[in-house]
Amino acid sequence: MSLTINRDRLLSEIEALASISEAEPPVVTRIVFSPSDLKARGWMKACCEEAGLTVREDAVGNTFARWDGSEPAASVVGTGSHIDAIPNAGKYDGVVGVLGGLEAIQALRQSGFRPKHSIELLIFTAEEPTRFGIGCLGSRLLSGTLSADAARKLTDNGGATLDEVRREAGFTGELEQVKLPGGYYKAFIELHIEQGPLLERQQIPLGIVTKIAAPASLRVLIEGSGGHAGGVLMPDRHDALCAAAEMILAIESAARTSGAIDTVATVGICDVFPGAVNSIPSKVRLSVDIRDTDLQRRNIVMRTIEAACHSISAKRQVSTHNELLNADSPADCAPAIIEALSQSCRRHELKFLPMVSRAYHDSLFIARIAPVAMLFIPCRNGYSHRPDEHASPEDIVRGTLVLAETLATVSR
Ligand code: GLV
Ligand code: MN
Ligand code: MN
Repeated sequence: MSLTINRDRLLSEIEALASISEAEPPVVTRIVFSPSDLKARGWMKACCEEAGLTVREDAVGNTFARWDGSEPAASVVGTGSHIDAIPNAGKYDGVVGVLGGLEAIQALRQSGFRPKHSIELLIFTAEEPTRFGIGCLGSRLLSGTLSADAARKLTDNGGATLDEVRREAGFTGELEQVKLPGGYYKAFIELHIEQGPLLERQQIPLGIVTKIAAPASLRVLIEGSGGHAGGVLMPDRHDALCAAAEMILAIESAARTSGAIDTVATVGICDVFPGAVNSIPSKVRLSVDIRDTDLQRRNIVMRTIEAACHSISAKRQVSTHNELLNADSPADCAPAIIEALSQSCRRHELKFLPMVSRAYHDSLFIARIAPVAMLFIPCRNGYSHRPDEHASPEDIVRGTLVLAETLATVSR
């Protein structure tokens, strides 16, 4: 089978999608169910329909674009990723997997190949945790990792519930219906940029993921006492931000001293109340992200962080409340799909690196209900989640070709 990836079409689609953003180029910001996300969804649906695929959406907005196989009742071969983007992001995170997936399907259709198993492109809702505080919302619901009841309790930063927001966006079905039936997928394969520097450093064009690291996130709410920045003398203070500062350093130290380079911890949000230069901070909210390839070690680090927060708050006489948002387990990729990806690489004499995904992806949750695999392409300097994120056209096309061949192999 000879496949042609339409490079110009793929690259121009990536540019077109990047232009649908809440920020000025080159910055991409596309928060789930925002006007730009809804516009991007509409644009994506039109692309899928133009490609001859049948589109359906579930109650949380996960979008499936289907190419029927010769046995439409057989299990499905899935591919895809997400199009939501964190504030101040770039063009490629998630998008390469969605538009690369669409291009892979188009290349297969145009080659005359006819799959036995239907092939579906899946665009997941809210892979990014920006709006509802929890990443991979769509895939958590699809896999049953998050119940409909728990999802209904989620609120955004403005206090709106997920139910209100999704209904207003036009997704009015029952959240109970989102979970996929057992055995729905024969295989799921996600193409993504690496979001790290290893492929580029080693000059290897493709990474085949063997394992996806275990992420956890928590909110730390610190309450001290506020007051006048001039009037309250230092011995009398219980400054919530000073306590938070010590906690942030304790969190960094817990990850640095875990004994493994694979442990990472980040405080990405620090909200200070009331946020006035002449007012002592009375409340602080920290958002903490902790990851590891080893679940036990990740959990030990979380306990260390919890203990540090409590001893710092006791010392400074502030109160602290830790709210665990998620603590997920790692996932293994499926050996049979890894082998199909490797065979395609070997066929084209492409070097590949077996690697761990340190970022999380929707595949982490789909792995609970299906055999999954992920294919990584390099990104410049390993940059991601920033506007200068970049993947080269050659790498994007190469990844799409290997994806297309692998979809063919597993859908026969
Ligand atoms: C996904 O965007 C992640 O934060 O790993
Ligand atoms: Mn991301
Ligand atoms: Mn992503």
